[in-house]
Amino acid sequence: MIVDIDEIKNVVNLLVSKDRLLHVEGTAKFAKTLARVHGLDENIAEFIGYAHDIFRDINQRKLLKLARGYNLSLTDEEKLHPILLHGKLAAEFLRFRFNVDDEELLDAVRYHTSGYKNFGIYGKLLFLADSLEETRNYPNVNKLREIAFKDIEMGYFEVLRNKLIYAIERNLFILKESIESWNELIRKRKGGSI
Ligand SMILES: [Fe+2]
Ligand SMILES: [Fe+2]
Repeated sequence: MIVDIDEIKNVVNLLVSKDRLLHVEGTAKFAKTLARVHGLDENIAEFIGYAHDIFRDINQRKLLKLARGYNLSLTDEEKLHPILLHGKLAAEFLRFRFNVDDEELLDAVRYHTSGYKNFGIYGKLLFLADSLEETRNYPNVNKLREIAFKDIEMGYFEVLRNKLIYAIERNLFILKESIESWNELIRKRKGGSI
């Protein structure tokens, strides 16, 4: 596996729009700080922070073409909204271009939008960094940042909860992985039974 920060930055600069760049840099920075605070690998955190949205500004036609190239099977929702593929495509890119073979890191990038019931610590860290980086501005964001710096697990629970409430209040679609992750957290909280 190659954790080449300079090279992933080059990829970001090639593929990501100017507006998105601030979010991506903010995510990498937040991920790195969170890793330092919680005794995790800062380079890995920064690397996945830079990598997570490399395909976020690619048009629908190209996203579908890339998905075919990587042999991904698409859900109905992804066929309808190919932008949903950007995490999975970034994970495949890291696998082939940077030889990332750690499934925990690939899942972190793959499911950074939805959350994932089998996330490892870097999955939760990236999910938090994506939602809490310095350019994000919404009610509760400061409180959520505070929780994330204290406890990644609790931060993940609260940020996922906040995302679900946001989606329900606006009648938005909720991805299956988000619901599965939420249910898994609730199951664990109640000692395995619901
Ligand atoms: Fe994203
Ligand atoms: Fe993002």
